[in-house]
Amino acid sequence: MEEILSVKNLAKYFAKGGFLRQREVVRAVDDISFSIKKGQTLVLAGESGSGKTTIARLILRAIEPDSGEIVFDNAKISNDASSLRKIRKDCQMIHQDPYASIDPRMKVFDIVKEPLDIHNLGKPDERKKMVFDALRDVKLDPDEVISKYPHMLSGGQRQRVVIARAISTKPKMVIADEPVSMLDVSVRVGILELIKELQDKHGISFLYITHDLSTARYVGHVIAILYLGKIVEFGNIDDVLSQPMHPYTQALIDSISEPDPNNLHSERKIRVNNPLDIDAYQGCRFRARCPYAIEKCKQEPHLELVGNQRTVACFVKIN
Ligand SMILES: Nc1ncnc2c1ncn2[C@@H]1O[C@H](COP(=O)(O)OP(=O)(O)OP(=O)(O)O)[C@@H](O)[C@H]1O
Ligand SMILES: [Mg+2]
Repeated sequence: MEEILSVKNLAKYFAKGGFLRQREVVRAVDDISFSIKKGQTLVLAGESGSGKTTIARLILRAIEPDSGEIVFDNAKISNDASSLRKIRKDCQMIHQDPYASIDPRMKVFDIVKEPLDIHNLGKPDERKKMVFDALRDVKLDPDEVISKYPHMLSGGQRQRVVIARAISTKPKMVIADEPVSMLDVSVRVGILELIKELQDKHGISFLYITHDLSTARYVGHVIAILYLGKIVEFGNIDDVLSQPMHPYTQALIDSISEPDPNNLHSERKIRVNNPLDIDAYQGCRFRARCPYAIEKCKQEPHLELVGNQRTVACFVKIN
């Protein structure tokens, strides 16, 4: 299957704030490589601060990478005007907070139409139909919503408007950054269903960002588990979640499973040290919290092929 996106050795470091800490850096994204096949959903999962949103911003060229290569739809993306035009038209983003991508003073019709105007897509008189089509695609009744302001809609409807706006340009890929985490639990499944439907109907590829593995499993095909700027495990989502090999993946899974009183003292329990207490960038970044850590973990583990398209960066490898 052909790839829509390929990311190679991507890196972005940030200077930490504060006068005395000026020379300290956060390795937000540190030598990351992955690719997404056309029509597939890759889930990028990891706890807060692991670098998920930074990866999205690097792909969309909202920020410049320190190093690495991004190829989108067979074109190398750099910051020249034609690259930026291509990536911003063909790759759209859905944010966690609907208000981050829509102007509360605009009516739904104009919100969904705006990207068509920006990218000059369709003749002006065709744009109305394109807006209506996008709204129908997200299961909203155009006549009912086009004249409304965002605050007049429910949370679920508002996120549907955001999705309609994202798909109005007929993008090849959509990056969804925690698209359901701010929504009421009762409307989440509907949005996830919609994402899958849009993928089937329009062949859209998704980069789905989340810390929540249960929603991840619902929409994903493959998963990359991210820890402090590094991919620690990658593979088919069912394989990885049913038989995690990296202790951090196991910890993420444990953190969502039902609390079982018998497990409270289980060996697997992850220590709660601040991960940056030790020099986190020496050796395995997870070792301060890892119940399985051994002497060798002071060296850096690299992603190693362990099965069909399955890689893991761990000397111990549980399961
Ligand atoms: N503009 C910036 N300047 C300085 N540090 C930054 C900047 N953007 C991100 N970081 C740092 O980079 C790291 C990764 O941040 P990022 O927002 O990518 O994490 P995330 O995985 O999206 O987290 P969350 O789940 O909370 O959204 C964090 O330590 C963050 O503080
Ligand atoms: Mg984020």
